[in-house]
Amino acid sequence: MKILVIGGGGREHALVWKLRQSPRVAEVYCAPGNAGIGRLAKLVDISPDDVAGLLRFAQDNKIDLTVVGPELPLTLGIVDEFQRYRLPIFGPSKLAAQLEGSKVFSKELLRKHAIPTGFFSSFTDPDDARRYIAEVGPPIVVKADGLAAGKGVFICQTQKEADEAINEIMQTRIFGDAGERVVVEEFLEGEEVSFLALTDGRCVRPLVSSQDHKRALDGDHGPNTGGMGAYSPAPVVTDALHEVIVKEVLEPTVNALRLEGIDYRGVLYAGIMVTRSGPKVLEYNVRFGDPECQPLMLRLRSDLVDLMEACVAGRLAEQAIEWDGRAAACVVLAAGGYPGHYEKGKPIAGLEKLDGWRDGMVFHAGTSAANGEILTNGGRVLGVTALGRTIRDAIDEAYRGVAQINFEGMQFRHDIGYRALDRES
Ligand code: AMP
Ligand code: GLY
Repeated sequence: MKILVIGGGGREHALVWKLRQSPRVAEVYCAPGNAGIGRLAKLVDISPDDVAGLLRFAQDNKIDLTVVGPELPLTLGIVDEFQRYRLPIFGPSKLAAQLEGSKVFSKELLRKHAIPTGFFSSFTDPDDARRYIAEVGPPIVVKADGLAAGKGVFICQTQKEADEAINEIMQTRIFGDAGERVVVEEFLEGEEVSFLALTDGRCVRPLVSSQDHKRALDGDHGPNTGGMGAYSPAPVVTDALHEVIVKEVLEPTVNALRLEGIDYRGVLYAGIMVTRSGPKVLEYNVRFGDPECQPLMLRLRSDLVDLMEACVAGRLAEQAIEWDGRAAACVVLAAGGYPGHYEKGKPIAGLEKLDGWRDGMVFHAGTSAANGEILTNGGRVLGVTALGRTIRDAIDEAYRGVAQINFEGMQFRHDIGYRALDRES
């Protein structure tokens, strides 16, 4: 088989690495990929939002399965486009991708189908939004409706902060059209988990639980980022809670979409707050999490090609998913200054010491290759990921890997998994 993976981050390196292990795969292409992916796949210089270009490439090269990493091509309708030409593609349709592409859409779906989430209201008029906020009172959360590269969420402790959020989103329009509407919603307290499942629109197969670390600095301080590390399993998700999340969130979500006439195929990611009154949905993503995907792929035992094909073909009920019983942890190494301004092009030292690492894998994110060197080429640069008997062991092994690597300005969190360790001890 020939496979095309779309994207070029740590998530896509992990997907390519796993897909390559399938005996059914002859060739993997990745658009645009990165230096690490370039060792496993042929890199194709097409941007993930160039749907027409990707379609042409898949046709010309007779691609048997296309796997979409990031959300943008999904919300642009790449799946619908490929399906028109009978090209198998793993991911949800444009309508289904609204689950991530529009916070108003997802919150309304949640409310209509009584899936647990915080209260909310949505607005197109900034004054109406302000009046509602004054009525409900802080703390309150203000979100731009559309995609905002993970930056569209304002946690507001005071009325003034909420007013400013409304200003920036709806009047200054810092996210452009994504800020045409806002959602104002309940501030939820608790521990956050990432809960992912594969689905073919009917059958829902949950993946093992995971948790990421969104803040830039130790102790969950500093600005929000794409994710500074992740681990799996997340011990806050007990077997009982796992069951509740599957029965009360994931299955009802897929069923709700089907009732709305939307057939969801692909990976469904529910960001969940485990509150005192049970799990509540914070948001949906219509793709694998990055960096959650890295520990998940290290733990996945089943053939990923079989699973993805079954989702596309509506045959997921025939597939079970097998996991490595060990834990996995991923530490992200980022460029100095990330998530603010950072420089690129810094040579990375030490990677060769981790070639053939028995219990781990260094997944590349923002890297490029030049003259035999690997250079930094993005904010999140590497995801150093390892397995261990316990979460503690996995974390220790990942940090042993981190200690081998260096580049100018390198920054990372030193406390990945601290919540899990608190529970494990
Ligand atoms: P999102 O982009 O929706 O994932 O939001 C980014 C982060 O903001 C989430 O991962 C949470 O940590 C936080 N967040 C979002 N919505 C809420 C909420 N209603 N209550 C508390 N925290 C939230
Ligand atoms: N790590 C969070 C996300 O992928 O959205």
